[in-house]
Amino acid sequence: MIILGIESTCDETAASLVEDGRHLLSNVISTSVKEQALYGGVVPEIASRRHCEFISATVKKALLDAGKTIDDVDAVAVTFAPGLIGAVLVGVNFAKGLAYSAGKPLVPVHHLRGHIAALYLTHPELKPPFLCLVASGGHSHIVEVQDYTHYHILGHTVDDAAGEAFDKVARTLGLPYPGGPSVANAAKTGDPKAYRLPVPHVEGRYNVSFSGLKTAVLNEVNQAQMKGTDINVPDLAASFQERIAGILAEKLLLAAADTGAKQVCLAGGVAANGRLRQLVNDGAQKLGARVYLPELKFCGDNGAMIAAQGYYQYIAGHTAGLELNGLPTLPIDYE
Ligand code: KG4
Ligand code: ZN
Repeated sequence: MIILGIESTCDETAASLVEDGRHLLSNVISTSVKEQALYGGVVPEIASRRHCEFISATVKKALLDAGKTIDDVDAVAVTFAPGLIGAVLVGVNFAKGLAYSAGKPLVPVHHLRGHIAALYLTHPELKPPFLCLVASGGHSHIVEVQDYTHYHILGHTVDDAAGEAFDKVARTLGLPYPGGPSVANAAKTGDPKAYRLPVPHVEGRYNVSFSGLKTAVLNEVNQAQMKGTDINVPDLAASFQERIAGILAEKLLLAAADTGAKQVCLAGGVAANGRLRQLVNDGAQKLGARVYLPELKFCGDNGAMIAAQGYYQYIAGHTAGLELNGLPTLPIDYE
């Protein structure tokens, strides 16, 4: 079964064809990230405009690269939530028009469920149940993936998402957007023990909090400015990365130990972080759990993850009519 996946929740306009939820046939990503970087973050209006401009050619190229036409597609899957609403609606309306005109079923996909499904593309042998940390620009969740369409949230951030913390800290350090890759890059030559950053206290055994950590970085910068001294950017980037990756890995591994999870996974944009991958790999091995990490090209937003999850939503009977609407927020465990 071939699913066309369409994604437009943030600054990537993406389309992909995937067979049976596991085999990648094509993967096309058009992005406005360079333009967004001029403003230090995503400007929703610019994102929406670029989606409108890119979407038709992106979907056409996804079909062309796979050597298929819309007639070969069994269903059109699209991210309908959560995300920047103006951006989400471009994908949703395009998918509705395409599905209607081609006479294909329309399958709504939750963005974070899509991030998790990126793991199926990298690891064809991976099957639920498994434990997954989903960390992106807008969300940080520790989730039990009970089966392909059922989820149980164990923990979440009580304030900033992990990716958001990377982006804000990058801005404080004068590093370019998106912050995750630029902080990770600066950290390569830094000493992770150079700055003593706090470990936030948070209610809830598997919850995380990053707003205090972000403020601690800001305080270091402000204090240096007041004293007329320089901040060592690589050292502060490395110290921040060590702390945030440490917190995320610790909470995920704590949940894995408590629940006796046999399979532990990472998903979302922050799953590209090398230090986080290393800490989870090492820690899970000590617990005797198998670790599954998404290929780097599937960590950020893409259409393949939506097509992969779209397959599982479709075979579970989750289709929508033309009344489908986009939503800015929706929990991953929605029914
Ligand atoms: O999943 P994603 O591409 O988009 C959302 O759904 O939000 O995640 C984007 C987030 C951004 O905040 C970005 O800074 C972060 O993922 N990110 C990283 C890395 N690469 C991207 N964070 C840490 N380390 C990275 N290597
Ligand atoms: Zn995402």
